[in-house]
Amino acid sequence: MTEQTKVTDTPATPVKTLPDAQTVTAVRHWTDRLFSFRVTRPQSLRFRSGEFVMIGLQDDNGRPLLRAYSIASPSWDEELEFYSIKVPDGPLTSRLQHIQPGDQIILRPKPVGTLVLDALLPGKRIWFLATGTGIAPFASLMRDPETYEKYEQVVMMHTCRTADELAYGRQLVADLQNDPLIGEMVEGKLLYYPTTTREESVYTGRITDNLTSGKVFEDLGIAPMDRDHDRAMVCGSLAFNVDVKAVLEGFGLREGANSDPKEYVVEKAFVGDGI
Ligand code: FAD
Ligand code: A2P
Repeated sequence: MTEQTKVTDTPATPVKTLPDAQTVTAVRHWTDRLFSFRVTRPQSLRFRSGEFVMIGLQDDNGRPLLRAYSIASPSWDEELEFYSIKVPDGPLTSRLQHIQPGDQIILRPKPVGTLVLDALLPGKRIWFLATGTGIAPFASLMRDPETYEKYEQVVMMHTCRTADELAYGRQLVADLQNDPLIGEMVEGKLLYYPTTTREESVYTGRITDNLTSGKVFEDLGIAPMDRDHDRAMVCGSLAFNVDVKAVLEGFGLREGANSDPKEYVVEKAFVGDGI
């Protein structure tokens, strides 16, 4: 046997031999740029709805290739769900988009993040403000009964360029409303406001514009935001987060953290090019 043959015959270390391997149980492709998947949950993993973990695959050299991902499933779910972009040539997602049920992924069971209910002072109404895959932490929080125990009203604003990119959130909200367990709790409390910016749909426009113009309050028939009643969580691109923060501050809300709860909290949905 030649040296060359030996190298070719050596199998790559399968992920399942790693301590942090989890098995993919379901995959759904929503568009050519977006997909969601479910994996087994490590028995010891406890997390707060809204937190993120590091997940990934092995690279060609057998090293872990990990990225931050918000857990999209609620803390009570026996599996874990993730909602993902497919970045063309992205080191992780160019591979991750091909996973199938039965495959293994790496999951580091150390959840962290600022988008947790404990990071906010008590209030009456909570706003979830997201663009693109930034809806993932709110997919978790919208399915958590604690959200509805703590707030009288929950407003989910999700904005994408085109209507097909809203499909994951739209399906999730529909399923939630029909859910035999949580459906009753959600009824009348969850207000869903999906908008598009680059094609016509029922509601259009950027979240920032719809808040500053007051259009969202008018469309939903609700009172404008104020510091006494409203709390907010923000998750989108850096530019979006910066602009939304200014809008929220304009309504008198102040940024909080786990260690210092106030009226709103922010997390990046991804780290942009060059940032
Ligand atoms: P990367 O090299 O990581 O990214 C390449 C470029 O693609 C980036 O510079 C950026 O311009 C763009 N990009 C990366 N992620 C996104 C995205 N989600 N939406 C739009 N453009 C993007 N991604 C998810 O798909 N779902 C999540 O739930 C999620 N949660 C995250 C939570 C946190 C706290 C952070 C910091 C990031 C999160 N991300 C999430 C982004 C994720 O970590 C990776 O960047 C993404 O999976 C792409 O990995 P990659 O290796 O293919 O490309
Ligand atoms: P727009 O189409 O007007 O740029 P992207 O795909 O670029 O991350 O954007 C996702 C969604 O977020 C789009 O609908 C986009 O609107 C919107 N968006 C991007 N940047 C901002 C921002 N700074 N403030 C408000 N909305 C934004």
